Amino acid sequence: MQIEFVEFGPAAGEALTAIAALVFEGPTLSEAAEALDGQTGGAVSRAAAAGRFRGAKGQAVELVAPANLHASHLLLVGVGPKDEFDAAAAEAAGAEAYKALKLSGARALELRFNAEPELLARAAFGARLAAYRFDKYLTKEKPEKKPSIAAVRVASADLKAARAAYKPLEAVADGVTFTRDLVSEPANILYPDEFAKRVKGLEKLGLEVEVLGEAEMAKLGMGSLLGVGQGSRRESKLVVIQWKGAKDKAAPPVAFVGKGVCFDTGGISIKPAEGMEDMKWDMAGAGAVAGLMYALAARKAKANVVGILGLVENMPDGNAQRPGDIVTSMSGQTIEVINTDAEGRLVLADALWYCQDRFKPKFMVDLATLTGAIIISLGNDYAGLFSNNDDLANGLLAASKAEGENLWRMPLPPQYDRMLDTLAADMKNIGGRPGGSITAALFIQRFVNGLPWAHLDIASTAWKKPSTIAAIPDGATGFGVRLLNRLVAEGYED
Ligand code: BES
Ligand code: ZN
Ligand code: ZN
Repeated sequence: MQIEFVEFGPAAGEALTAIAALVFEGPTLSEAAEALDGQTGGAVSRAAAAGRFRGAKGQAVELVAPANLHASHLLLVGVGPKDEFDAAAAEAAGAEAYKALKLSGARALELRFNAEPELLARAAFGARLAAYRFDKYLTKEKPEKKPSIAAVRVASADLKAARAAYKPLEAVADGVTFTRDLVSEPANILYPDEFAKRVKGLEKLGLEVEVLGEAEMAKLGMGSLLGVGQGSRRESKLVVIQWKGAKDKAAPPVAFVGKGVCFDTGGISIKPAEGMEDMKWDMAGAGAVAGLMYALAARKAKANVVGILGLVENMPDGNAQRPGDIVTSMSGQTIEVINTDAEGRLVLADALWYCQDRFKPKFMVDLATLTGAIIISLGNDYAGLFSNNDDLANGLLAASKAEGENLWRMPLPPQYDRMLDTLAADMKNIGGRPGGSITAALFIQRFVNGLPWAHLDIASTAWKKPSTIAAIPDGATGFGVRLLNRLVAEGYED
């Protein structure tokens, strides 16, 4: 999707351009909508008054081939009360406009929103995110199902300022797109080695990428991660990504660690057939970390950041690990694997230990599609946040609000930690059904050596079908990229 900023003025001469303008709650026409009303001999105000349209958020009215206007469509986008129109509302309006018109036949969409450059940039960002599609395997799609809009033009009185405000947002949108593509790929295409290769390709952005194979991980003692991948024909990989954007390249970094289970069959504790295809997106945590690193590098963030991806495939096989097996993690702690389907925490245990051991970061945040229980707890609009540090948790909650990637803080009650005790090893990998997301987080916490740490259980938010947000088309959401990019931008840059 091409995004351009153009001079605010009369409609472009093209016959197949759609124009979108804002209407506030009332309905009260925006300045641009007023001007269009004048041009069309009152068609805009008549359309706004003809039905139930009140200019509320989420409402829209479409005029096709309006008189006296060189436009194929004119869309009035309701954005709610005028004094509440902010960056989030601008983003939603840009996304709604694209979504409403994408199949209209219009070739271009002009967002004629008169607003501050920052708000226009957010509108462009919304349209860009809404235009995402994973269509590389569609060979016979009907032409009328393909989006017709090839370009979004954002009208601005101050082109320089709008373009400057959009630049870092474009980097974030590129990062989100990178994540969505990874998460959407099926597991026959995207296995650990292929995932690692795609991340290696990000060296062109100035990132440093190292890929560790099974032999190197065995040397490091990562028996917990390696046990998970043991039943797969695909080699497990640990990817280490570094962005050194701070003035002092040796200053301690912040670190993000992702669960990258490229497919989770459950292993010998195999999952039921129905819905198992969803487990291609069990690498969404690692996908988000990769997309975050993309965004940080693309916008040249002034911070030192480490991203670590634990990439495995969890398969049943003659060589697969069995329930009851005891593995030794890099930390030295032993784990009795009661259920081979609770594999994400086994991957994170070694990835987190490696991260703190090697980098001594200021904090670690891990992202993982860790438990079905978080979906039961929070539904699909919130990810679970677990943290041993209030400052880090509050920073994440603030970033979450600003980006609309919702988090809900969950407890880490010390008295539940006992649920992980077992007879023959230091711990077992499941704590039972009650509080399943909490005991999973408590398990991970046993591999955090006192550092500030947060765990985001994104099993609830990584994939949405159907999605209720225009900036997030059905499928892979890219959840986490925006949130963590903002966390870094607001709290950890020079
Ligand atoms: N990858 C799953 C969690 C998951 C479930 C992600 C649904 C996305 C949607 C994870 O590895 C898993 O299987 N967890 C088990 C843990 C249980 C065995 C303790 C679960 O949630 O059932
Ligand atoms: Zn599992
Ligand atoms: Zn899993």
